[in-house]
Amino acid sequence: MENQYIIKGGTPLHGEVNISGAKNAALGILAAAIMTDETVVIDNLPNVRDINVLLDAIEGIGATVNRISPHAVEINGSTISSMTIDYDSIRKIRASYYLLGALLGKYRRAQVALPGGCDIGSRPIDQHLKGFRALGASVNIEYGMINTEADQLRGNHIFLDVVSVGATINIMLASCMAEGKTIIENAAKEPHIVDVANFLNSMGAEIKGAGTDKIRITGVQRLHTSEYSIIPDQIEAGTFMIAAAATKGDVLIKNVIPKHLEAISVKLIEIGATVEEFDDAVRVSASQRLRHSQIKTLPYPGFPTDMQPQIATLLALSEGTSTVTESIFENRFKYVDELTRMGASIKVEGNVAIIEGVEGFTGTTISAPDLRAGAALVVAGLVSEGYTTVDSIKYIERGYENFEDKLNALGASMEKIPVDDERAVQKFKLKVG
Ligand code: UD1
Repeated sequence: MENQYIIKGGTPLHGEVNISGAKNAALGILAAAIMTDETVVIDNLPNVRDINVLLDAIEGIGATVNRISPHAVEINGSTISSMTIDYDSIRKIRASYYLLGALLGKYRRAQVALPGGCDIGSRPIDQHLKGFRALGASVNIEYGMINTEADQLRGNHIFLDVVSVGATINIMLASCMAEGKTIIENAAKEPHIVDVANFLNSMGAEIKGAGTDKIRITGVQRLHTSEYSIIPDQIEAGTFMIAAAATKGDVLIKNVIPKHLEAISVKLIEIGATVEEFDDAVRVSASQRLRHSQIKTLPYPGFPTDMQPQIATLLALSEGTSTVTESIFENRFKYVDELTRMGASIKVEGNVAIIEGVEGFTGTTISAPDLRAGAALVVAGLVSEGYTTVDSIKYIERGYENFEDKLNALGASMEKIPVDDERAVQKFKLKVG
């Protein structure tokens, strides 16, 4: 049954929230975990749908997956019997294409369905395939499947034409057991690239320079067991930072790496919020209406595209005219129509949103168009006057663990209820008054 959120807005968020493990790091790390025949233990796993879907795909090719707890899993790749990831898996979770690099690197062959476009635009994977070819693999696309194999994988010097997180991770996976040295130039520098590299190194790989635009990989013969804890989720943390500022609250966001949040912190300070950094926490508060700004999404360490809908929502409530330029994905403004229904004043021209700040939003029924935009609409609901219902929350659940529980613990009034359940709506309204 489909669920929706019902939110009564207007309460500033106060208190402390614990951030879960990084979903996007976990996706790369789980794929990497199948590359050894020894058992690997991965901790601080976020308990979100994307992770569970990838674990199903990993089990589907025969690996042994033992979920020790909601946040820890044991994986043994010695029992893998299939090299094929079908369209059903890739449709549910694009990042199952990391199994292409992992299987190719380990077994020298793999067959993975070609992912289609998605809610945020066309998403080519030419750079991933260029990398595999450079390592000596043949890559053919037939009947919707990418077939790749190699007698031998040999290290090479690879220049990425665009900075791609996915291609950087996939090439690291495919090359870490190749013969000789691989250099990835113009590599992505996101924190989760570093986390995947650190995990591979903990299994015996030799990867240097992750976090810079030049990654050097010396192939090793085999990888071995490891116990590894995933870094905190930069985007989940950023979303709570925005929620704290938008509701004019005061929230201590714990279990984060403040360095990873700098692009967000700097913008929040620039528009008038207060951000305090601690060793593994940030505290965000705001007491008055914030100011306008100009934002452009860029690869790390620039402002993350995955925070674009959330910051635009905040700017839609801030004083003056702001612009938000989306330079990574072509179709990431789908939430704008929903925000407009709540009273926002935003015009999209090409890849730029021109935002005239309004004093406040009013609640209505809206629908989450994708994961991050969905989270932004929840933030909009939290600040709106009256009741907001957010449909299609399955997108939000792909990447936010216990979103409603974490927000309610900070003083929000929201609940997950079945779609079209009028009695549940009435019950919620009676409860929150
Ligand atoms: C990852 C994140 C996603 C985030 C994005 C950008 C995961 C699982 N997902 O997605 O949440 O929004 O990084 O930070 O980590 N491109 C090509 N050819 C390619 C690959 C990419 O042209 O072969 C283009 C894309 O269309 C896009 C840009 O490069 O315009 C960046 O994409 P990329 O960094 O690859 O994003 P993902 O890894 O898919």
